Parts: sequence; structure tokens; C-alpha cells
Amino acid sequence: MPKMKVLVIFGGESGEHEVSLVSAASVIQALDKEKYEILTVGITKKGQWYWGIDPQTWKLNNGTVSSHDVQVTLVTDPANPRFIPVSGNTLPGDGKFDLIFPVLHGPKGEDGTIQGLFEIAGVPYVGSGVLGGALGMDKDRMKAVFAQAGLPIVPHITVLKNQIDNDPDSIRTKVMTELSFPVFVKPANLGSSVGITKVSRESDLGQALKLAAAYDDKVVIEQGVKAREIELAVLGNETPQATVPGEIIPCKEFYDYEAKYIDDSKLIIPAQLNKKTVNKLQEYAVTVFQAVDASGLGRVDFFVTDTEEIFVNEINTLPGFTNISMYPKLWEATGVSYPELLNRLIRLGLERFHRLNVTD
Ligand SMILES: Nc1ncnc2c1ncn2[C@@H]1O[C@H](COP(=O)(O)OP(=O)(O)O)[C@@H](O)[C@H]1O
Ligand SMILES: [Mg+2]
Repeated sequence: MPKMKVLVIFGGESGEHEVSLVSAASVIQALDKEKYEILTVGITKKGQWYWGIDPQTWKLNNGTVSSHDVQVTLVTDPANPRFIPVSGNTLPGDGKFDLIFPVLHGPKGEDGTIQGLFEIAGVPYVGSGVLGGALGMDKDRMKAVFAQAGLPIVPHITVLKNQIDNDPDSIRTKVMTELSFPVFVKPANLGSSVGITKVSRESDLGQALKLAAAYDDKVVIEQGVKAREIELAVLGNETPQATVPGEIIPCKEFYDYEAKYIDDSKLIIPAQLNKKTVNKLQEYAVTVFQAVDASGLGRVDFFVTDTEEIFVNEINTLPGFTNISMYPKLWEATGVSYPELLNRLIRLGLERFHRLNVTD
């Protein structure tokens, strides 16, 4: 049997470009070479796509493209989807593949946009589709569907950049009446804690709103809670399963960008929680996954207080995927090895594609 051609795509324009390179290197290393032929496309920070890139090399040389690298584009022809060079160069093969494995985090990778392109091109891919990606990226809309599904979320206010620029006083009043300090101010559509500020007093609110508004038109102001950070991994399409919970012990005041990727935050798997709380978390994790219409994979993040009161924080539809990341670690602790996890994700991607593309 010929091997299945899996095309891993990574990098991208988001602030999580580097994290994506590390995740992709782990995925490529762990994919079963007996089963799969691996092809790659790297997306530069400027959004150009290059064939046959090694993510580790890009990580080391800061994404430098050499004159030998071939810029490519995905042909949107469902009868013959393939990559072709954008200029006179040739590719080493025919540019065809059986499935795309996007290992991209953040905007334009995890938010449904690139998934829309894959849909138009008519190709199977790993993970959530357009709606799941989009809802999983927008913290304001995500909370709306969580609330509708009866999930517990922290009180919050959503404001637009336009209001921040023109009417900051009314925002201040609303925050003072509806929330209490500390609050967390976040751009609605981003990840990796970029643009997020913990605000402990009124005088710091304006600055935090301006920072968040520099990243997005929409800003979410959330009630801060004193709680443990608990995460569960979910896998599946129509009948998703959740893992045991894991706990993050941030090495800083909150789980900011540095705590996530530079300093030494700790993961505790499984998290020490009451059995009843664990069951509730697993039930909520599946409800969250289904509420945003996720497929394939998702990591659901919670806040759990000292009295084990639970709040859903967010879902990440393309969570960090290095071999030391929470998502694969949680599956390992639940009995699914990293290479087997990749097999299942590929099967789920193909299954979803065939289910949605039945022609009679
Ligand atoms: N409402 C909150 N209460 C307490 N801590 C919070 C709250 N919101 C965010 N945080 C802290 O900030 C981190 C990043 O926020 P999060 O909403 O998860 O954004 P991102 O999508 O960038 O991961 C969280 O992991 C947590 O440490
Ligand atoms: Mg988070």
C-alpha cells in the first residue's frame, strides 16, 4: 500500500509563529514514517508559503528563506487539489497530498480562516472547521455560546475600540459597577496571553484598554478570579472524549507569554481534585467542545477555586503540540501515546471530510 501523504503546515503570521515551529517539529518527528510520507509547507511571518521547509531550521535561522526555497500556492480545485510554485521554479514532486495537518496557532491558523481555504480547495485536514475555529478564537463570541450552553463563566464586559477611544468614562463606570478589581483586560481575538493585562486598580484601566485595543477592535474585560488553572484535552468528532485534568502552576503572577514559553511553569498531571470535580470538568469539557462546534482536537481551560467552584476560561482548537505540551501529555496520561494521538487525529480529519463531502 502506498503511504498516506500528510502535509504539515506551520509558521504563519500570528504572534505564535515560533511556538508553531516547535509544535510542528515534534509532530513531524512523531508521525509514523511507516504509515506516512511527510511533506511540509512553512508560512513566513509575512504570510508567504514555502515548500519543503524544516521547522527546526527555520527556528534556528529565524525563518530565513534561501534562493533554493520554492514559494508555493494551494490550487483551489477540488478535483485536483495540489501545491504549485508561484514562479518558474519546479517542485521535487507533484505537489499532491492526502491530508493537511495544520500546526498553526492563533489568528489565520487557528481561527477558521485557513480552514476556509482548505474547504474551498476540497482537501481533508486535521482539526476544527471554519465555525469551530472562529468561535474558539473570539473570546467574546465564545463566552456567548458557553453561556447559552449553560456553562459557568466569569462575569465580563465586551467593549469596542471605538468606545475605548471616544468614551472611556462610560467603560470605567460600567467596570466599577459590574465588576471588582482585579480584572483581566484582553484583546478578543488573540492567544498566548499577548496584549493581556491584570488590572488591580482603576488608574491602570485606561492603559490596559489601550494596549488590548492595539491588538484587536474588540476587547473583553473579565472579572479576575483567584483560582487554579486546570486544563483538559478533548479528542473526537461527533462523540468527543475528555482526558484527566492537568494543572498549570505559572511561575509568574499569571500565565503570561513568558510564563508559557520562556520560564519554567509546571504541569501537574493528573491535577489533584475531588472525583466529583473531575467528572464535572470532563462533562463541561465535552459540552464546551460541542458548543463551539469543534472537531478533532481541543484543549479546554478552566479556573477552579479553592472550594472547587468551576469556571470555563476558553477552548483552544489548535493547542500547543510540542511533546512537552499539555495536550499530548494529557492524552499520554490517559493511555494514548503521542504517535497514536497523531494517527487518531488524522483518522478523525479524514472521517470528517468524508462525512461532509458525501455526494450521491
Ligand atoms: N478572569 C481571570 N481570572 C484570573 N486569571 C485570569 C483570568 N483571565 C485570564 N487570566 C490569566 O491570564 C492567562 C491568559 O488568559 P487567557 O484568557 O487564557 O488568554 P490566552 O488566550 O492568551 O491564553 C490565563 O492563563 C490566566 O493565568
Ligand atoms: Mg489561555
